[in-house]
Amino acid sequence: MSLCYLNGEYLPLAEARVPVLDRGFIFGDGVYEVIPVFKRRPFRLGEHRARLARSLEAIGIRDPLDDAGWRALVERLVAGNAGEDQSLYVQVTRGVAPRNHAPPPDLVPTVFAMSTPLEVPADPAPVAAITLEDIRWSRCDIKAISLLANVMFREAATAAGAYEAILVRDGIVTEGAASNVFVVHGGRIRTAAHSPHILPGITRDLIVELLAGTPDAVREDPIPAALLVEAEEIWITSSTKELLAVTTLDGKPVADGKPGPVYRRIKAQFTAYREKVAGLP
Ligand code: PDD
Repeated sequence: MSLCYLNGEYLPLAEARVPVLDRGFIFGDGVYEVIPVFKRRPFRLGEHRARLARSLEAIGIRDPLDDAGWRALVERLVAGNAGEDQSLYVQVTRGVAPRNHAPPPDLVPTVFAMSTPLEVPADPAPVAAITLEDIRWSRCDIKAISLLANVMFREAATAAGAYEAILVRDGIVTEGAASNVFVVHGGRIRTAAHSPHILPGITRDLIVELLAGTPDAVREDPIPAALLVEAEEIWITSSTKELLAVTTLDGKPVADGKPGPVYRRIKAQFTAYREKVAGLP
């Protein structure tokens, strides 16, 4: 049985019900977070909580809980579900109202959260990706539940026998359909700078932070799409997949088609950091 949270109550997931007039269902009017949990400890909770607050603020939904309230919710959900490692999904929609694009003021937000088992593969399988035009809107920095374009990207990737789609806007790499993108070129690591065209990924930011001031410091520079074909390495990052090396792009091997040396080094560093944090008293 999976325990979830809905509007102040903890209940089995199969019993949770939301009215059909919820604006999340009708308009995709809401925001979300995916928080990884290792050894029953939420990882980078403060960062996820801060990003949720920013997303809510950006779309004008009042934050339904304070920091202590969010922490208590997360802790109760982790304790109530099986598995040392979990993935928490947290969603806030504007609430229930008669269908009208213009939202009425003072709606009560719908707050939902659930846990699913998290398995981060220690030795990941080869990852195929395709490139696609980034057809999304210009506020991709908001973690909105309206993910139609992202679903279409992933559908196209799957149809091409690939796992992820790497998105290109005006000739510049933005991010993946559900990940951020890093490229190693000329021995230097690059990723897109924060902008309204990408989600400020918590995993991305952590990698930038871990490598700052080291010889591997990440350059937050635009990545021309043309660079992808010359890249020594391409990686994707997300809370549930951590760091994965893309081994084929558009059907062609990336360099020799194997996870590269920079990837292996940074991945080991990332894993060591995560294990250290999860093991702290
Ligand atoms: N998605 N960019 C997009 C468009 C994403 O959907 C995600 C993550 C990321 C990586 O962000 P983070 O490192 O904070 O997980 C970047 C989550 C995992 C999802 O939708 O399931």
